This record gives sequence, structure tokens and C-alpha cells, in this order.
Amino acid sequence: MTRKLHIAAASAALIVTSALVLLKLPTSSDWRRAVAERGWASGQHESLFNSRPRELVDEIEERVAEIIRYQEAVRRPQTVFVSDPYHVRDSALGRSEIAGDVSGVLWERTGRVVGNLLIGTVGCSEFRNITGIEFLGSGYTKTVLKGTLQNGTAIALKAVNSQGDEVMRCIQRYGQTRDCYRLAAFKIIKEISLLQKLQHPNIIQLYGQCYYGSLEDGLVITAVMELGSPVEMIQLLQTPWEERFRICLSLVKLLHYLAHSPLGSVLLLDFQPRQFVIVDGELKVTDLDDVSTEELSCKADSDCVLEFPTRNFNLRCTAEGRCHKINEKRNLYNAFRFFFTYLLPYSAPSALRPLLCEIMNATGDLRYGINKTLEAFEEVLYLYKSGLHHINLSQSWLEDYKIFEGFRIQDNSDYKCWPSYNHRGCLLSVHNREEAAAICHSQQQCQSFIFTQQTTWLGRYLVSFRSSTELVLDVNSTVYMKSSSLRAPM
Ligand SMILES: Nc1ncnc2c1ncn2[C@@H]1O[C@H](COP(=O)(O)OP(=O)(O)OP(=O)(O)O)[C@@H](O)[C@H]1O
Ligand SMILES: *[C@@H]1O[C@H](CO)[C@@H](O)[C@H](O)[C@H]1NC(C)=O
Ligand SMILES: *[C@@H]1O[C@H](CO)[C@@H](O)[C@H](O)[C@H]1NC(C)=O
Ligand SMILES: *[C@@H]1O[C@H](CO)[C@@H](O)[C@H](O)[C@H]1NC(C)=O
Ligand SMILES: *[C@@H]1O[C@H](CO)[C@@H](O)[C@H](O)[C@H]1NC(C)=O
Ligand SMILES: *[C@@H]1O[C@H](CO)[C@@H](O)[C@H](O)[C@H]1NC(C)=O
Ligand SMILES: *[C@@H]1O[C@H](CO)[C@@H](O)[C@H](O)[C@H]1NC(C)=O
Repeated sequence: MTRKLHIAAASAALIVTSALVLLKLPTSSDWRRAVAERGWASGQHESLFNSRPRELVDEIEERVAEIIRYQEAVRRPQTVFVSDPYHVRDSALGRSEIAGDVSGVLWERTGRVVGNLLIGTVGCSEFRNITGIEFLGSGYTKTVLKGTLQNGTAIALKAVNSQGDEVMRCIQRYGQTRDCYRLAAFKIIKEISLLQKLQHPNIIQLYGQCYYGSLEDGLVITAVMELGSPVEMIQLLQTPWEERFRICLSLVKLLHYLAHSPLGSVLLLDFQPRQFVIVDGELKVTDLDDVSTEELSCKADSDCVLEFPTRNFNLRCTAEGRCHKINEKRNLYNAFRFFFTYLLPYSAPSALRPLLCEIMNATGDLRYGINKTLEAFEEVLYLYKSGLHHINLSQSWLEDYKIFEGFRIQDNSDYKCWPSYNHRGCLLSVHNREEAAAICHSQQQCQSFIFTQQTTWLGRYLVSFRSSTELVLDVNSTVYMKSSSLRAPM
């Protein structure tokens, strides 16, 4: 019985691969029809998910069909599978070798069993000689390792997590180890296809992929991509507003791109901080295996309820039978509830608060679409960058300061402020001397300030605010000191 079903699964895969060889790719409408017939689009997917292996076959087919659909749009010579799925090792990024002892190294260095994943992958010529391999994290489907390419580039390697819920649950359900790996491998291939097609500064960059084996004998696939660091909300809450604003702006730019992507409006199904990483202060989405490019179909407006744990929105059903902009709206509300509410308002420059409140209110009520949201963010960016928000022409504090060129303040411990760019003092970003003077004026302990050589991502100057007035010679530095701190020597 099991064997028969296994053959059924294998032959289904065979049919699918034959289609790939012949490049008889189903069109999107074929695919839509197939989806509609099987009820996947109407949320009946879960009920199909019982213990009958026929459904495993269906799942594999569904996943492959989805990949085909994305690849249709990807017209690149290195597309996975297109040349000859039975001999992927020749069509991949180069020769593939099974570097047997690398598995031992992986096992030893990470101190964990990483199963039979990705061992052969370093054999792909572009990704040979990866050093410094360490375990980074694992999730439902994937295990992620970090490493360094020979040219010094730090990378993340993603492969099937053989101990992960996706594989384990599948095996529990169907008892088909090999097909269950295959199902998970297709999810990584889906992610690769999407990363090839969707390119944006706020989407993790794919450096390449490496695979060996075949659909028949089992496929080992690894995606190689840009390395980031996890989004730690608690840590982000302690960073200056300017950096938190950058995270939110990155996200808005990403969602604007996704709403008008080459694949249509892309929905991030699993929208949580752990699907994102930070690379040089920019937020980038890293987990693209759980996305959809289909907008919910509908017959009436009542079919278009956008549901969240704490509130629902009623959307319009368009003449084409799709819920109007449902993907864009779901992404935007998720951005509001997981990111903006935590990162945007707190300790924002007071002059920007009305604008930020409007953004919060408009996205929280879904009054703004993504275009309007991006415009609003860019206005805040412009005001902040140009320093217009801080300049109060009716009052200049700078004239209260005496300037000492060729001096700095003695480097000893000083007062701390929050949120500062360093932990040991009070290092804040300013647009100009006026703004620095206004800040120093507003802080009781501040007696002096110095411009450092550093700037922020917006080109604002980092200024060190000090309570000390002890001057030392430094040709490259200028001290601004409150006149009131200058007392006649006793
Ligand atoms: N490019 C990267 N750089 C650094 N860390 C990463 C990168 N990609 C993923 N990670 C880390 O590895 C973890 C798992 O990766 P990923 O989310 O892609 O796997 P998954 O199996 O789809 O997980 P999930 O259960 O979250 O859906 C992430 O939570 C993240 O911390
Ligand atoms: C890998 O490293 C070895 C030793 O440094 C070197 O001889 C070899 O050319 C490298 N291989 C590649 C593909 O760069
Ligand atoms: C290192 O190699 C990778 C893969 O070939 C490439 O994408 C990257 O740009 C290279 N980086 C540098 C600094 O040369
Ligand atoms: C937006 O403002 C209106 C009017 O003040 C208020 O009723 C509503 O609750 C606000 N929405 C959010 C998400 O803050
Ligand atoms: C939103 O912006 C995109 C890209 O800039 C544009 O193509 C689209 O027409 C805009 N949509 C609306 C409703 O303004
Ligand atoms: C500008 O300075 C004047 C005079 O001190 C003050 O009354 C006003 O509130 C200030 N405006 C802002 C926006 O800070
Ligand atoms: C001052 O700056 C110049 C040029 O950046 C540098 O060469 C010099 O060493 C600096 N002097 C001091 C005392 O830091």
C-alpha cells in the first residue's frame, strides 16, 4: 500500500519534472483554475491536509506549480531546473561534489546534529572554501548557518531543517521521509525563485544557490544569501529615534515595492519581526517562503473581511472578483501593529509628533494606502534631514555659548542621556550648531558640547554633550561652552 502510494508520488513528481524539461509551463490562469478546483484559494486547504498521502502528492504539485509560476517571470540563465532537472549537478553554478568530511566539520563546530542537510553544497565552485561556519538559527522549515566566502563576504546559508516542524509533521502524517524532504526543499526553491524575481534594497540579497541530486533521488539544496542580524525589538527600543525611524522607513519602502512588484501585490503571510534581519541599519525581509501573490477572490463585499486579533476591516469586492488591495492592506496593518506602534512615536522630535501621530492614526485605521504612507514618511524624512523641524527663528540659543577653537573637553566620564549613540555618555545627532545649542540648553547637566567627526545615516552630525568644562588643547576640535559656566577663577 505504502509502496503503491510512494510510486504515485514519484510519478506525480515525474510528470511535473517532465513538464519542466519540456518547458510546458502552465499559465497563470491554468494554475488559478487548478487552485480554484481544489479549493485552496478558499481556505479549504487545511481540510485537505489529513493523513492520505494523495494529499502529499497534491501538496508537492501545488508547491511546484507555484514555483513554475514565479519562474515564468524569471528570465535568467541560472534558473533552477530549467535546463535538465535530472542532472542538476551539471546545470547548477558549476560542478558539484559531495564534500563528505565537511559534514563532520559542520557537526563539530555547531555542536548540533544538523542532519543530512547541505553537506554537498560547499562543493559548488562559487561557494567553495566557505569558512567560519556557525549555526545561526532554525525555524519551521529551514536551518540557517553563517559563513564567510573566500573573498571575505559574510553569508547566510539556508537549507532544509530536517528536525523542523515542516518535515517532522509531514513524516508523522504521511510516513514518507523522502517526499517530506522534497516538499521542504521545494519551499526553499520557492524562496530562491522569489528572491531572484523580487530585488530591492530591503529584500535580502541572494548570492546564489547550490544543489545536487535530482528530484528522483532526493534533492539537497542550499540558498546562499546576504548575512543580517536578527531584529531584537527590546534592543531597538533603546536606540535613538533616528535609527528606529530608519527601520520603519525601510519597511514602508519594502511594502511599497511589494505592492507594485513584478509578481503583482505580494502578501507576507507570516509577518513578524523574526522574518526580518538588519543589515547596516536597514531592515530587510529574509524569509520569503511564506508569501502569496494572489489577492483573495470574492463575490460580494461581505467576503472581504480583513481580520486581525483586535480588529477587522471591511474591504470592497471589485468587479474582477478580488478583494480590493487586500494584500497591501494586510501588510500595512501588520507593519503598524508589529513595528510602528513600538518604534515610531517614542522620543520623536517634538515638532515631528503631529505628523507621526497622523501616520500612526492613518495606518492604524487603514485610511492611507501604501503610496500615501510612503509620501508621509518621506515628508518626515525631509523635515528631519533638513533640520527644519528644529529651527526656531524667534529664538537662538547659540549666542549663549562661547566658542573655544583648538580645544576639546577632557576625556573623563560624564553624564549620560537617553537614547544616546554611545552607552558611556550623551552622544546625539544634530543638524547644525543651533540645534546642538538648543539641546544643550534643554539639558540641565549640559555645560558644553563638541562636534565629533562622525555622522549618522542621514548625514546629521554626532555631537557629544558634556557637563565638564575642563578644556584641553586639540587642534582639530572646537568646544561650545555655556557662558553661564564660565565663572571668574576664585
Ligand atoms: N540572512 C540571514 N542573516 C542572518 N540570520 C538569518 C538570515 N535568514 C534567517 N536568519 C535567522 O534564521 C532564522 C530562521 O530563518 P527563516 O525564518 O528563513 O526560516 P524558517 O524555517 O522559514 O523560519 P520560520 O519558522 O520563522 O518561518 C530566522 O529567524 C533568523 O533569525
Ligand atoms: C580553496 O582554497 C584552497 C587553499 O587556500 C585553494 O588552493 C583553492 O584554489 C580554493 N578554491 C577555490 C575554488 O577558490
Ligand atoms: C564575493 O563573492 C560573491 C559571490 O561570487 C559576490 O557576490 C560578492 O560580490 C563578492 N564580494 C567581494 C567583496 O568581492
Ligand atoms: C484616529 O483618530 C480618531 C479620531 O481622533 C480616533 O477615533 C481613532 O481611534 C484613531 N485611530 C487610531 C488607530 O489611533
Ligand atoms: C502608487 O505608486 C505606484 C508606483 O509608484 C504607481 O504605479 C501607482 O499607480 C500608485 N497608486 C496610486 C493609487 O496612486
Ligand atoms: C520658539 O521660540 C519661542 C520663544 O522662545 C517660543 O515661544 C516658541 O514656542 C518656540 N517654538 C517652537 C516650535 O519651539
Ligand atoms: C588633526 O587632523 C589631521 C587631519 O585629519 C590629522 O592628521 C592630525 O593627526 C589631527 N591632530 C590631532 C592632534 O588629532
